[in-house]
Amino acid sequence: MTVRPRAWRESMTPWTSPPLLDVRGLAKSYPPRRRGEAPLHVLENVNFSVREGEFIAVIGPSGSGKSTLLNVIAGLESPSAGAVAIEGDPQLERLGRIAYMHQQDLLLPWRTVLENGRIGLELQGEAKQEANRKTAALAERFGLTDVLDQRPWQLSGGMRQRAALLRATLPERRVLLLDEPFGALDAITRSALQAWLTSVLDRQKTAVILVTHDVEEAILLSDRVLVLRGQPGAIAAQFHVPLPRPRSQAAAADPPFIALKSALIHSLQAPWQ
Ligand SMILES: Nc1ncnc2c1ncn2[C@@H]1O[C@H](COP(=O)(O)OP(=O)(O)OP(=O)(O)O)[C@@H](O)[C@H]1O
Ligand SMILES: [Mg+2]
Repeated sequence: MTVRPRAWRESMTPWTSPPLLDVRGLAKSYPPRRRGEAPLHVLENVNFSVREGEFIAVIGPSGSGKSTLLNVIAGLESPSAGAVAIEGDPQLERLGRIAYMHQQDLLLPWRTVLENGRIGLELQGEAKQEANRKTAALAERFGLTDVLDQRPWQLSGGMRQRAALLRATLPERRVLLLDEPFGALDAITRSALQAWLTSVLDRQKTAVILVTHDVEEAILLSDRVLVLRGQPGAIAAQFHVPLPRPRSQAAAADPPFIALKSALIHSLQAPWQ
């Protein structure tokens, strides 16, 4: 696997180019659950942009609004204030340009792994035979070949997560949103899929926003880590990862990796409110 210096990546995506995704002044509130209660302010003044090929990790305490942020970026929920623009276009209908793997896998129980995996291709009008071929080819890299004809309820939690990840990455989109995609996986499958994602993305220009609870995973995979503070969620800190991508698991032993890990853990523990 070739290791490209960061300077090379940046020269391919000059900072003068407009961001692929721009999140400006984003806020999200939900109406009060009961009469007399205050509305729930989940996100407040969230600002960041993502460039082509950039990998952003988002970490923050449970309930800090990470999944809500992805829902709003995907266009599944509308913001209470602010806007999300993709390629300068602040339209709400972004689903055709953004792939999204939800925190809950949302696989269709009546469909097999193959049929679930090919949904995105079907929706874009791909012929069934071709969609099946592409899904089966990618399924091999996810270790799902043997279960292509099984239904989600016949799979283990980790297999379901891999099937959902397979579905999210077919077809290829400009932006990929991943909400704790490796959460239910054992350590070995988890690092195999992290390595797989790293190698696939290195060949594509897909921008990724990954929500994770795992600080090491955030540093291993991303160019930049956003730390969300809780209630209402806002960006409390941003860290650039000063290590060339793609990184192997061995990078976790590098002094800059260890220093960043401790800074991130410290910022997660800081009393923001
Ligand atoms: N549709 C909704 N209606 C009302 N409240 C909601 C809705 N969706 C989320 N919330 C609330 O918004 C807050 C943030 O939820 P969210 O799921 O975004 O957090 P999270 O950071 O993803 O948490 P976790 O790490 O546990 O997945 C929570 O208090 C949650 O109860
Ligand atoms: Mg969540």
